[in-house]
Amino acid sequence: MTTTGAARARRYYDANTWKFLLSGSGQRAIHRELWAPEVTDLKGALHHAHDLVATEIGPEDRSVLDLGCGVGTAALYLARRLPVDVVGVSISPEQVRLAQRFAAAHGPLRGTVRFETADFTALPAGLVGFDVAFAIESFVHADPASAFFREAARALRPGGRLLVIDDVRTGDPADPRLDDVRTGWHAETLVSVPEAAALAAEAGLELTGSTDLSPYQRLGRPRDRLIAALQPALRRARSRSVWAESLVGGDALQRCHRAGLLEYRLLRFVKRS
Ligand SMILES: C[S@@+](CC[C@H](N)C(=O)[O-])C[C@H]1O[C@@H](n2cnc3c(N)ncnc32)[C@H](O)[C@@H]1O
Repeated sequence: MTTTGAARARRYYDANTWKFLLSGSGQRAIHRELWAPEVTDLKGALHHAHDLVATEIGPEDRSVLDLGCGVGTAALYLARRLPVDVVGVSISPEQVRLAQRFAAAHGPLRGTVRFETADFTALPAGLVGFDVAFAIESFVHADPASAFFREAARALRPGGRLLVIDDVRTGDPADPRLDDVRTGWHAETLVSVPEAAALAAEAGLELTGSTDLSPYQRLGRPRDRLIAALQPALRRARSRSVWAESLVGGDALQRCHRAGLLEYRLLRFVKRS
């Protein structure tokens, strides 16, 4: 059964994916740049999240599940570099259509890729036995987070690992500065690390690591400053335009990071055997 949050995410990504692709510097990554010390250019910053996932895939791992796969960029990036078979699921049929198109036009891969429209809070029964599952900037859309962890755990083999790269809360869930992030960013789930660990534990997943990637973000780029300056107009337009709404959400997200209310983290979980 598709949840309300999933239905909202589907509408949002079906309508707006082409705008994300236009603003993504040609790398087709629908997530933020990460300027780790070894990153030297924008392409590297957009693929850094993919490199972090690749690092976590061991020599024995063959099957990988991308929960919230966007237009398939991570799957193609991984299968090009590693002998892995990647299944990507997105709630957006439009994204899956684009992912399949980009895969068909892609050069040789060391593994395989396959994409499906599916809700990661109610995965198809056949998606089981994966060595690794990962979610880049999709976990915040989970409605509810407990269902995300339950389904991820079900999809993994015993001993399999789940990687989540996303925003986590550091303080009071009722802080009003988070409101625009929740609505504009469609962030149904803004949990703290201990809350994520407790929810995952209920699903049989143990938190084994948590790395703060926040310092690698570049907040306040010129386009962010322009969007900040346009906030009065964007706030007036938000009820009529999902794009204006998302720019209000993105600005709020940046302000929450600056205020230390959010961190951007890589969380590692293992499915108990
Ligand atoms: C910010 S985009 C990130 C896409 C991709 N991971 C990337 O980094 O380019 C969020 C993704 O989560 C997916 N998503 C949101 N809710 C979902 C759900 N309930 N089930 C499956 N995918 C979902 C969206 O369709 C979209 O692909």
